[in-house]
Amino acid sequence: MQQRPPGPKPHFLIGNMPLASRDPLAVITRWAREYGDIFYYRAGWIHVYFINRPDLVEFVLLRNHANLFKDRVIQNSRWFFGDGLLTSEGEEWKRQRRLTQPAFHRERLGSYAGIMVDYTDEMLSGWRDGAIIDVHQELMNLALRIVVRTLFGVEAEETNKISRALNTMMRHSAGVRLLLPAFARRLPLPGMADVRRAVKDLRDTVSRIINVRRARSEQDSEDLLSLLVAARDEDGSALSVTEVRDQVLTFLLAGHETTALALSWTLYLLSQNPEAENKLHQEVATLLGHRAPNSADVGLLIYTDFVIKESMRLYPPAWSLARQAAKSFEVEGYSIPADANVVMSQWILQRDPRFFRDPVTFNPDRWVEEACQKLPRFAYFPFGGGPRQCIGAGFAMMESVLLLATIAQRFKLRLVEHHPVVPVPGFTLRPKYGIRMTVNQR
Ligand code: HEM
Repeated sequence: MQQRPPGPKPHFLIGNMPLASRDPLAVITRWAREYGDIFYYRAGWIHVYFINRPDLVEFVLLRNHANLFKDRVIQNSRWFFGDGLLTSEGEEWKRQRRLTQPAFHRERLGSYAGIMVDYTDEMLSGWRDGAIIDVHQELMNLALRIVVRTLFGVEAEETNKISRALNTMMRHSAGVRLLLPAFARRLPLPGMADVRRAVKDLRDTVSRIINVRRARSEQDSEDLLSLLVAARDEDGSALSVTEVRDQVLTFLLAGHETTALALSWTLYLLSQNPEAENKLHQEVATLLGHRAPNSADVGLLIYTDFVIKESMRLYPPAWSLARQAAKSFEVEGYSIPADANVVMSQWILQRDPRFFRDPVTFNPDRWVEEACQKLPRFAYFPFGGGPRQCIGAGFAMMESVLLLATIAQRFKLRLVEHHPVVPVPGFTLRPKYGIRMTVNQR
């Protein structure tokens, strides 16, 4: 057995901290190309094994998943996510997944389509021809309103509060800060007091939404919150009040930022690729004309779907996934010790020339069926894979297709000249300076 995979030269004290570098994506991409399918580095006290081949990703996420639980970043994020679906493990996770899955069944998703389109219409009615907007900000607000309404059935007056709290938390979750052990979060570090206050505000707001919902429970709604409150396991047990709150927090956080990012990057990419943009406009005009799309159109808007898929290939909102090994195990002749971090990156694999021809070219047509049948499983995994695959994937795809079609029917967006578009890999892949675009009525 070989000792360790190759990897970059470490600093004697801190090892390597790619996320703290000026251009983390360029650094890890260079290492992947230089050191191959698996490389090693030490980030402070953490041993990181970075894997860069689809079958190895499949091994970690699917075949050997029982030995690999969520990594430290996710474990540490419990202090603001709570113990919901994203952060729980083992039997507890299984139970939660069983109880929440029905809210994401296809028939249920169909009933969310109207809300998604109506809220998009409302957003668009505020757009004036020639105005400059930050699409990232606009879409974050829209996606948050949609998730609050579809999943929790209340038009929360408190959406703005939620948005402010989430922004504070997300701003401080970039880089190495989340790797800090619990005691360090109590130190007077810059920004930490703001984050603690934001977490408290968010919890209070969510508890208020739950109370409103409980008070209206006789109305028999079918949103996620009602399902969570009413859900019973085989033994008749229900989710506790705290469990419901943590689940709500999880869906709020996981359910809006990612979708908003997918659409923001899509609008940016379309502005840089007028040919693809024209094809999208043609599809939308042919299928919909001036009528609003509905859930039955989602499966027919095929090119629109390709555009979103291609955008998530180049700019995956979840740009990497990580696991921590419970027991040591072997990969490619290397022994990976218990406690080590195993990292896989959508950003790297989905731009790998071994699997994608002209990997950095935005080409939605590469998703026609015959072409993607040749793709190895896990060369493309924007929603993760294995048992912990995103529960909201269907929701997110439907939302993205409906929102994009509705926007494309009415507007064409152009990047403001010289505006820098810089992806920053934090908890998600965010545009550092937003995406400022000029709105043109079609
Ligand atoms: C484009 C949008 C989205 C992307 C790219 C995305 C990506 C992901 C990824 C990669 C994971 C797996 C994490 C891991 O294995 O460590 C995940 C899990 C999860 N996502 Fe999403 N997501 C999106 C939208 C949503 C939406 C709309 C919701 C809810 C409404 C949601 C809720 C969740 C939850 C609860 C989990 C944890 C599932 C579990 O562990 O059982 N996501 N997501």
